[in-house]
Amino acid sequence: MNTSLDIKITKTATSKIEQCDFDNLKFGAQFTDHMLVCEYENGRWSEPEIKPYAPVTLDPSARIFHYGQAIFEGMKAYKDEQNQVWLFRPDENFRRFNKSAVRLAMPEISEEIFIGGLKALVRTDEQWVKKGLGNSLYIRPFMIATQSGVIASPSEKFLFCIILSPAKSYYSGKIKVKIADYYSRAANGGIGAAKAAGNYAAQFYPTRLAQEEGYNQVIWTDDATHTKLEEAGTMNVFFRIDDTLHTAPVSDRILDGVTRKSLIDLAKHLGINVKVEPVEVERILEAAKNGSLKEIFGAGTAAVINQVEGFAYKNDYYQLPEMADEDAFALQLKEGLTRIQNKLSDDVFGWTVQV
Ligand code: COI
Repeated sequence: MNTSLDIKITKTATSKIEQCDFDNLKFGAQFTDHMLVCEYENGRWSEPEIKPYAPVTLDPSARIFHYGQAIFEGMKAYKDEQNQVWLFRPDENFRRFNKSAVRLAMPEISEEIFIGGLKALVRTDEQWVKKGLGNSLYIRPFMIATQSGVIASPSEKFLFCIILSPAKSYYSGKIKVKIADYYSRAANGGIGAAKAAGNYAAQFYPTRLAQEEGYNQVIWTDDATHTKLEEAGTMNVFFRIDDTLHTAPVSDRILDGVTRKSLIDLAKHLGINVKVEPVEVERILEAAKNGSLKEIFGAGTAAVINQVEGFAYKNDYYQLPEMADEDAFALQLKEGLTRIQNKLSDDVFGWTVQV
């Protein structure tokens, strides 16, 4: 992978790090001192630049504001006991970013800019990456359409940017979820598999309705029949029936989550039986009723692994059984994954990449 990059770096005169309370981080609320920017115009990307974190100025008619031509990624960096900083499977995010770009009629970006640029940025703000299990630096690369004019056609100018945010967990504690039986997140032939900004905006309203009923998230079902469980919007979802983990295969409607695919490999490595096949709502309701549904958990970069305590479907609520922490697949997998990410155990899969 050629990711060496000669990059212009302008450092801030005053760091904000002293004002950051690393023990009480709210997810995605604090940002580091610098950001990477790179512009696309006349069919090519400019030289990327690292500069102090600052607002971006755009014409009010820029396409992003009107047609939502925007994509992003979510990744993390970790610091090991020797103060080396590591990325987790950045090649997967790079590949998915360009896949999203193609689907949203945006230009692809080179590995040098995406991975080389983010390595240079993380090195610049290295002191913001804290050591220890549970600590990470959340990396948010994104691309927006910047061309002015409200004509409804793809922009020819874009901004690629990377910002960094020190992070702990996204959710604190177990969550309650609601299974969608009316609203949809994605459809066949749509943009559900892309990490498009609009996929998230489309979930806000139905998720707010679920939150008003006391649930944290919606588990989306297939738009055509609402009979198959797909993903939870900020996470992919796993169901444990007896001792087998079930998760839906990726499709046009489901994001190809990096944490999801890593957990499938890790679970198999730990001797857990994993079935990647459509998960019927009926099957989960039946398993909840007969006691064979042991666990549900979400998995994503921001959330890592989030256990579900119970779920609602139509008018019924199903509480999952209590389980000792050491017996929960969710916690065994979380421990296994985060130890690899933080370089506390051997990375037998070769997933970690030094910054
Ligand atoms: C991530 O896990 O990185 C995501 O992109 C989810 C996000 C909406 C917080």
